[in-house]
Amino acid sequence: MKHYKIALIKGDGIGPEIIDEAVKVLDAASSKEDFEIAYNDFLMGGIAIDVKGEPLPQQTIDGCLNSDAVLFGAIGGEKWDKLPREKRPESGLLKLRKSLGVFANLRPTTVFDELINASTLKHEVVKGVDLLVVRELIGGIYFGQPRANDGNRAYNTMVYEKEEIARIARAAFEAAQKRYKKVCSVDKSNVLEVSQLWRDTVEETAKDYKDISLSHMYIDNAAMQLIRNPKQFDVILTSNLFGDILSDEASMISGSIGLLPSASIGGKVGLFEPIHGSAPDIAKQGIANPIATILSAAMMLRYSLNEINAANRIELAVKDVLKDGYRTKDIAQFDAKEICTTSEIGSIIADRVSKL
Ligand code: IPM
Ligand code: MN
Repeated sequence: MKHYKIALIKGDGIGPEIIDEAVKVLDAASSKEDFEIAYNDFLMGGIAIDVKGEPLPQQTIDGCLNSDAVLFGAIGGEKWDKLPREKRPESGLLKLRKSLGVFANLRPTTVFDELINASTLKHEVVKGVDLLVVRELIGGIYFGQPRANDGNRAYNTMVYEKEEIARIARAAFEAAQKRYKKVCSVDKSNVLEVSQLWRDTVEETAKDYKDISLSHMYIDNAAMQLIRNPKQFDVILTSNLFGDILSDEASMISGSIGLLPSASIGGKVGLFEPIHGSAPDIAKQGIANPIATILSAAMMLRYSLNEINAANRIELAVKDVLKDGYRTKDIAQFDAKEICTTSEIGSIIADRVSKL
């Protein structure tokens, strides 16, 4: 039997409750598909600041590097917002991404037919949307030097090496090969030098992927097109900051940020997390939606453990449970037959995973 070691980072706010449900569902999937998972907890974010005095203790980095994959809930909260930037929970996450070397952030947006009313956009615009944002995650303006703020003048640097662009482009082309074979690269090459290098490098890399149809869009137009006609997109390839913005926008096409997972891969160990935040205002009330984390666990099985059957099983179970009308409070107004707590819907999904 195969054994895997998974690092769990529960984090802050609703993090612990949603990770607990993902573990329930993973356990159901592993016993059906005959593999075993051992979990180890590590601290990051606000809780790590409170307990260890820093957002990302070395122990957590080592523990993650020593695992087959990392499943992460969420971090942050008002309590730590006043700290200097490098001491905040968010800087822990950025440093973890960098330490793991996960340069490719995959953020799918799919529209569940059962929840189509959750979108603020018209049915005909969103029905059938199935797109993937491939965001460069450990470079660009998030990490570029120099950077400073002396109170009178502040600056950051958007910098990319050619090879950093080529490798994220390859990740996007390879993802598209398993999907609808279309890549739209998003940049601001009408203004920025760094974007010109981005566009030239993506063009050059595309020569090795003759089966893919490649187009380019400026970021401002892409932000508009994503709302006007999201179905035109398959894979959207873009840099760190543009991808941060576009993936939040894309998530709202489906209407429910509580449903969307993400995978950060390409490095030593993959990192899997829901795209939503720590929502401290609803923590510990049993109303958080664990589905994005459960689907992130499915991505972990698919991309890091290569347990494809188990991943499919979880994704199918989630669809089924939504089809049957089980809803957490955040999506209760959309054709709910039964309103569930965080732990109830986790158990219902785990049960479905066992029975599929
Ligand atoms: C995300 C978040 C992070 C980012 C923050 C919390 C640092 O917004 O994962 O999209 O900007 O990458
Ligand atoms: Mn973001």
